[in-house]
Amino acid sequence: MEYVSSRPYGPLVGEVSVPGDKSLSHRCVLFAAMAEGTSHLRNVLNSEDVHSTIEAVRALGSTVEEDLRADGALDLTVTGWGERGPRTPSGPIDCGNSGTTARLLLGVLAGWDIRVTLTGDESLSRRPMDRVTGPLALMGASFESASGTLPVTVHGGTLSRIEYDTPVASAQVKTAVLLAGLRAPGRTLVREPAASRDHTERLLPAFGIDVGRESAAREAWVEGPAVPHSADVRVPGDPSSAAFMVAAGLLVPGSRLTVRDVGLNPTRIAFLDVLERMGADIAISPEPDAGAEPVGSIHVAHTPELTATVVRHEQVPALVDEIPVLALVATLAHGTTRFEGVGELRVKESDRLTAVIEALTALGGSARAEGDDLLVTGPGVLGGGVLDSRADHRLAMVWALAGLAASAPVTVTGFEAVNVSYPGFAADLAGLSAPS
Ligand code: S3P
Repeated sequence: MEYVSSRPYGPLVGEVSVPGDKSLSHRCVLFAAMAEGTSHLRNVLNSEDVHSTIEAVRALGSTVEEDLRADGALDLTVTGWGERGPRTPSGPIDCGNSGTTARLLLGVLAGWDIRVTLTGDESLSRRPMDRVTGPLALMGASFESASGTLPVTVHGGTLSRIEYDTPVASAQVKTAVLLAGLRAPGRTLVREPAASRDHTERLLPAFGIDVGRESAAREAWVEGPAVPHSADVRVPGDPSSAAFMVAAGLLVPGSRLTVRDVGLNPTRIAFLDVLERMGADIAISPEPDAGAEPVGSIHVAHTPELTATVVRHEQVPALVDEIPVLALVATLAHGTTRFEGVGELRVKESDRLTAVIEALTALGGSARAEGDDLLVTGPGVLGGGVLDSRADHRLAMVWALAGLAASAPVTVTGFEAVNVSYPGFAADLAGLSAPS
């Protein structure tokens, strides 16, 4: 599907609510499926990735009733397998495009005497799974995989506790090991080189699981064996989706907009810090008593003069999904913005490092790599062109945003990729355009 994006007739104004957080939606469905009892999950993201997780837990014996709300969100009633454990599915489980589904499921299944094959689409089948199967194998699970990628067959069983220093700061690795740790007697601890998103640590207690943490040492642990119990959870809006609306406000002169009901977990919103350092006119109004995950509104006003900045390596995990959109904003900023140590972008839904450089260059911008650093120099005027999404949802949205600032339309091919995380993206963007 093609989407043609061009400069709007006027500023982007008004308020928008983005759909439920993808990371939290996956986690609450999985934790509810693992739990004893019936959980009620509200404002779950209704997207292809989350449906991969819903179908996976159904195949493994959990029941999931879906209630589609008028605003497009899902309310779910999930009855878990609890003490009985997951059942052997009738065939392979297709994780679609979703790395979170595949990697977290490997951790969920590792501690049960069950054989399950996980598959994925072309993009997911290229992404590394050994970062998760490695530590899970150390705990005692067995895996069959031709090359460390999907398809992977997991043969779970009796696990031993582990203390694991993960070489990559990844919430997916951390979560997979902690979930497996619920089946291993004693303390399973994960230590990271930089702090990744901490949704698992915040959400598991709602399901009755204590999670120990030593934030300064970037450690998290669970004590096993333990079975989660059911919970009632409301998922806030996704800050990664909000980032596109915030960027839109910065790209279109005169814009002034508010994104409501956004998750403001500090391990997710480093993109706001970077934009503020660039001089962007941004304000946050947190909601009082939001619970384990802070929630609030983000206000943004178009800022004519942005300045380049340096994004340090330690900050990357807290904005890893926002680098492509930040790179686009950096084309408007004076000077060279450097994103340090962003090699992880090469193994996301596409090779985002190469894709961003090629796309910005194709539109007449200036972007290049120096080792694992991404450098974007501005300000420049982007021209139009045709950009393919590379079947990557976030790239599809960044390319569409490029059209808002370019001197000629940008046509995005493969735009349907947005359905992975933000099916209403185009409608939400259109809703902010003043009538012509
Ligand atoms: C996610 C973690 C991140 C992120 C992905 C979702 C999660 O991946 O890029 O979109 O929900 O845990 P890594 O943990 O591999 O960095």
